[in-house]
Amino acid sequence: MDQDAMKRAAAEAALAYVENGMVVGVGTGSTANHFIDLLAGIKGRIDGTVASSEVSAQRLKSHGIPVFDLNAVGALPLYVDGADEATRQLHLIKGGGGALTREKIVAGASERFVCIADESKLVSYLGRFPLPLEVIPMARSFVARELVRLGGKPVLREGFTTDNGNLILDIQNLEIMDPVKLEGELNMIPGIVTVGLFAARPADVLLLSTAQGIETLK
Ligand code: 5RP
Repeated sequence: MDQDAMKRAAAEAALAYVENGMVVGVGTGSTANHFIDLLAGIKGRIDGTVASSEVSAQRLKSHGIPVFDLNAVGALPLYVDGADEATRQLHLIKGGGGALTREKIVAGASERFVCIADESKLVSYLGRFPLPLEVIPMARSFVARELVRLGGKPVLREGFTTDNGNLILDIQNLEIMDPVKLEGELNMIPGIVTVGLFAARPADVLLLSTAQGIETLK
């Protein structure tokens, strides 16, 4: 099975968490895209969705799946999204697609966060994938200097603006031994809107697609 087929298999496994009448939180990225395409097959069973990005909202709408504003619905029962890296503790790095802020909001508003990923995303510790930070434009250089002080190497994502009108700094060289602590520390730096560490609110379930089948981590 190639990587894309594994992503689709993980997305397919997440359908088992979708219950009749739900409003489902939907993530962003190639794995989430598989989930969106599969959700189209059962769209009559759900009330609708909340999307974590404009691009996912467009894809959902193209399938005729209703997309609601988060403010128009209550707490969500379920959020399904991919990740750039995941540990067995279900701590994640997200934001490779630049949608980390809305992803973190929708994850935070959801009772259950089901992460879907192929086996290449599983790591012993986070940080090989550069950690995305969404940053207010005027704070870009200040935040970059603060990250250098912490031992990181910040790289501006060239030519990219988030759905919220901000920039992304990708931080290389971080060995993240305590993701909850680092997430808290980075959250204190003025100008950082969102840290791409999902550790304080980790996933609740990781559906990891392997050559042998789906491994469910909780
Ligand atoms: C987007 C994300 C994605 O979930 C992450 O980048 C994984 O993407 P893919 O499923 O394409 O590997 O966080 O901001």
